[in-house]
Amino acid sequence: MPTSKSFFFSSLGKKFIMGLTGLILVLFVIGHLVGNLQIFADPEVINQYAHLLHSMGPLLWLVRAFLLLTVVLHIWMAVLLVIENRRARPQGYEGEHTHRASYASRTMKFSGIIVLAFIIFHLAHFTLRVTHPEYENLRYTLQEGAYAGTEVLDVHAMMVMGFQKPLISLFYIFAVGLLAFHLRHGFGSMFQTLGLRNKHWGGVIEKTTITFAVAYFLFNAAIPLSVMAGVVDNENIKSIDDSAEVMTLPEDDSPEQTD
Ligand code: HEM
Repeated sequence: MPTSKSFFFSSLGKKFIMGLTGLILVLFVIGHLVGNLQIFADPEVINQYAHLLHSMGPLLWLVRAFLLLTVVLHIWMAVLLVIENRRARPQGYEGEHTHRASYASRTMKFSGIIVLAFIIFHLAHFTLRVTHPEYENLRYTLQEGAYAGTEVLDVHAMMVMGFQKPLISLFYIFAVGLLAFHLRHGFGSMFQTLGLRNKHWGGVIEKTTITFAVAYFLFNAAIPLSVMAGVVDNENIKSIDDSAEVMTLPEDDSPEQTD
């Protein structure tokens, strides 16, 4: 009888862990997208939501640690499977099947690495704010509910300010495009592992995963695109810009040096 240890170290066990961790991450990205779409409402809405998350304290750190562990396991299993496949690949034979499989695994590797690079940048950008420390100056006083009167980080203004930079917006759109592609192929392999990618279910699964991936991409891309198009704006940023102009006035008024 196979022990649980031998199952987790078998090919099937690794694929199972990849699928399970992938599923957890998919649930996270869907939840995150729903949260981010609140940018289309009044700034109060997303700022209330962000403050609620920030005020979760130790629970937030527990969720973060769990997510990190999930990402690490997902990548670790992917690396082990790549090594395993490389060892098992038949030498000197390149049939249609192996050609298609290596195309899929190559694109999964590429999209996975870029998405990982994106996550690192994204955390530095919006969560740690080390790339743009000026976001710290964006403050908002909550108007409603139990936290009315509390001054918080203006997450709405931070997102608008972030996406007003076309290069950053383009990188986000590119990364979520690759993530959508990664999810579509990931779902495909997961159903194959589960043995559901057969004649009966194959077509339905294919259409559902493509529809999901396209919708996921479009909803995500709508955020930076709407900011760049000026559909989503933020008054707080304008007042910060105006006060910056006022502060530079005395320098402009200083007497000119004459010889
Ligand atoms: C257009 C797309 C996205 C937008 C607008 C966005 C926006 C944000 C914002 C504003 C925060 C900081 C929240 C805060 O500190 O209050 C954040 C955090 C985060 N985002 Fe995103 N995000 C996007 C896509 C993604 C994707 C695709 C992933 C993962 C693949 C992701 C993973 C995360 C993680 C892990 C955090 C840290 C959460 C924490 O504080 O623990 N984001 N995002």
